[in-house]
Amino acid sequence: MRLVLLGPPGAGKGTQADRLAARYGVPHISTGELFRAHRREGTPLGKEADRYMATGRLVPDDVTERMVSERIDREDARQGFILDGFPRTMRQAEEFADILTVRGLRLDRVVALEVPEPVLKERLTGRSACPSCGAVYHRRFHPPRRAGVCDACGTLLVERADDRPETVTERLRVYAAETAPLVAYYRSRGLLLEVDGTGEVDAVTAAMVAGIEGRHD
Ligand code: AP5
Repeated sequence: MRLVLLGPPGAGKGTQADRLAARYGVPHISTGELFRAHRREGTPLGKEADRYMATGRLVPDDVTERMVSERIDREDARQGFILDGFPRTMRQAEEFADILTVRGLRLDRVVALEVPEPVLKERLTGRSACPSCGAVYHRRFHPPRRAGVCDACGTLLVERADDRPETVTERLRVYAAETAPLVAYYRSRGLLLEVDGTGEVDAVTAAMVAGIEGRHD
């Protein structure tokens, strides 16, 4: 199963990618998370990426494409992957098509999660995440059992620096300018599945799975 999840910041890509990865037994590959891991480790790539992420801009295409092609060449991705946050520009989409072609692979579906802007802003401003295991929470929609502490591993939760209101506004602008055109690109290739991302997490997962597996309830 090779899937791409498309959608604006806060649409629920990471939340849903985890669930789909568990269902299909393939890794969840998030370019944002790969950059954050580099940043935590203080690598040159992490330092370069931080210059862009901190202000809500996109990391340059060539750096991102190289990182993704190395990641999908790893053993655990041989049977597939759920890509979250890549491709994000038209150039990345075209480069990704080449990356797949030279490996003799094909994409099964591109799922676009649709969520209106006021809901996105509410989701992002209430989000916290576990720096250790990556679990994602929300103050109102998905609170941890103990405030500020990860249910899964007991680590103190952190808020993402790029979830500040002014950076969220820039991320939404960049999405509209650079990434939204990919919806039409993948629709024209017959790969697009559009899913309403505003319902409860379980309901959104069910709608995605039904679309991916060709069921209509
Ligand atoms: P990235 O980490 O990919 O961030 P993003 O795309 O902005 O998406 P988010 O992680 O903010 O949101 P999400 O859709 O995953 O939502 P989530 O599930 O967390 O990228 C960060 C940065 O890295 C970029 O700005 C850029 O600088 C760089 N970058 C990454 N990829 C790049 C690329 N390809 N090229 C260049 N640069 C790149 O959910 C959000 C909140 O809502 C959570 O609190 C969650 O609990 C809650 N929630 C989720 N679903 C629901 C629901 N159904 N109902 C109620 N609450 C919900």
